[in-house]
Amino acid sequence: MKGEYKDLYRKADAVKKNAYTPFSHFQVGAALLAKDGTLFTGVNIENSSYGATICAERTAFVKAISEGYRDFQAIAISSSGGEALPCGICRQFMYEFSPELDVITGKDENSLRVQPLSRLLPEGFRLETE
Ligand code: THU
Repeated sequence: MKGEYKDLYRKADAVKKNAYTPFSHFQVGAALLAKDGTLFTGVNIENSSYGATICAERTAFVKAISEGYRDFQAIAISSSGGEALPCGICRQFMYEFSPELDVITGKDENSLRVQPLSRLLPEGFRLETE
């Protein structure tokens, strides 16, 4: 386990208090590390129209992409309910940009797992672009 990933997980853990979760009360924080070292955080933001909810991982990605970032090294995820692995929509969303992204999960900073996104989403879909 690289020490930098423990730090990244701590960032995810620290931001999860900002999650807006009146329906599930399941708070998630994400910390996304761009290849140049820039950090973006995200939380899950729920909605009265449940399907409009956005997960912490996609919040972090949307913030980063809209600031002009495209190349990512890793994302750490912390939740209020033990280890949280990214949902299927988030796996596909992240795969668009970073099939080999390191995904860091765990119930606490001393039991972290690092897996490439390509293992969590084998043979993921991408349209070929020029
Ligand atoms: N959620 C995330 O933000 N990320 C995950 O990896 C799993 C699920 C959120 C969505 C919803 O607000 C709550 O957790 C319960 O599903």
